[in-house]
Amino acid sequence: MATYTARLADLPEPEIADLIAARPNLSMHAMDGLLMDGVPLNAVADALGTPTWVISAPTLRARYQAMAHALDQAGLGAHVHYAVKANDHLAVLRVLGAEGAGADVVSEGELRRARLAGIAPTNIVFSGVGKTVAELRHALAEGISQINVESAEELDILSAVASAAGRTARVALRVNPDVDAGTHAKISTGRARDKFGIAYEDAASLYARAAALPGIRPVGLAVHIGSQILSMAPYRAAYARIADLVQTLRAAGLTVESVDCGGGLGIGYADEPGGNPASLAGAIRASLHNLGLKLMVEPGRWLVGPAGVLLASVVLEKRVGDPANGSRFVVLDAAMNDLIRPAMYDAFHGIVPLSAVDAVRPAGAADVVGPVCESGDTFARGRLLPPLAAGARVAILDAGAYGAVMSSTYNARPLAAEAMLDPSAGPSGFAVIRERQKLEDLWAAEIVPDWLKSGIG
Ligand SMILES: Cc1ncc(COP(=O)(O)O)c(C=O)c1O
Repeated sequence: MATYTARLADLPEPEIADLIAARPNLSMHAMDGLLMDGVPLNAVADALGTPTWVISAPTLRARYQAMAHALDQAGLGAHVHYAVKANDHLAVLRVLGAEGAGADVVSEGELRRARLAGIAPTNIVFSGVGKTVAELRHALAEGISQINVESAEELDILSAVASAAGRTARVALRVNPDVDAGTHAKISTGRARDKFGIAYEDAASLYARAAALPGIRPVGLAVHIGSQILSMAPYRAAYARIADLVQTLRAAGLTVESVDCGGGLGIGYADEPGGNPASLAGAIRASLHNLGLKLMVEPGRWLVGPAGVLLASVVLEKRVGDPANGSRFVVLDAAMNDLIRPAMYDAFHGIVPLSAVDAVRPAGAADVVGPVCESGDTFARGRLLPPLAAGARVAILDAGAYGAVMSSTYNARPLAAEAMLDPSAGPSGFAVIRERQKLEDLWAAEIVPDWLKSGIG
């Protein structure tokens, strides 16, 4: 197995000014505080309270266009299928769909979201290691463009489902190239021991078998080696293996029309440079250009991550131990149930005060935590932050991907509100795209059986 080491060294913490300077959509205004694409985030928090997600339509558009441009410049003619899992809000899907994005979905729910947002079935591919019979049936009925099959077992099930429905499924085999993407273990998907895809050695024979199965038309291959990938070396290794496989299959007389190159391009969460779509396009081009293939990519995080922030307010600052050397905790009203990435992946997210006055005060180290009853409910340890009084607001940066979609209501905390920034929203520059969940909604679907209803209170 090819292995690559992640870049994350023990770099010094970026300062607040550096975090803002590294992000073209952020700026600090002396009076209005932190602006995102020109809109004061304080105005959003005034209107909706906190915690609140904010997603910027102009940033989404700019990033989609940058990705599409890089693919065009490389002469790949590759089509972008946005990985819906990164942020599945209908408004986000509409913005990206209007730019021309197709969708990569992993459940019937995501497929229905993509369709509701107006994305054509012929622009949708269905990935995932455990699609149910009902989901496969639905995908076939919708007439989506491609189903990425992840195992021999799934191929047989799909053949039966498609034959029974009198349909032919256009299938790509998702191949596991046994390449370590050098990312966090929980988001690495292309090593032989990961649950994803068909073992490289088995792919050619399975493709030949697929070609003979009723209800199946193999159209190509798919590969996705993981997420938050910053080095191009694993991409190059994976695409070289896929190109070899294309040639092997063609030499055996099989038709291979397309390769789905997956997603995974990373972003700069601290002040490291993020992944560059032009470099990704170069990695694809190095192996897969000139093979007469229809190419696709499935980016999620790169498109939406930097387009979103999570706004939170300080509940209180708590000190433990002696005032000079003890611990300082900044307790926010947002928690791991809102943004789980720090707890789940030890992920770094920049934290910036919304007030320009707060942002320039002398900073000291603090642990930034939420109110949930787990020590893992920690957004940052030893982060350099100015003193923050109760009610002071902060933005947790780069929260547009794998943020709101991974929220839960743990500790009976309602799902946060969401706003979208867009000049079309009128003078405020933003619109509410999700109301804060009501407390009553938390238990609205719960049923207490009759036999439990007497005897208490
Ligand atoms: C099959 C597939 N494609 C695309 C993606 C999108 O990944 P990312 O958001 O890192 O671009 C994922 C997520 O891991 C995935 O599983």
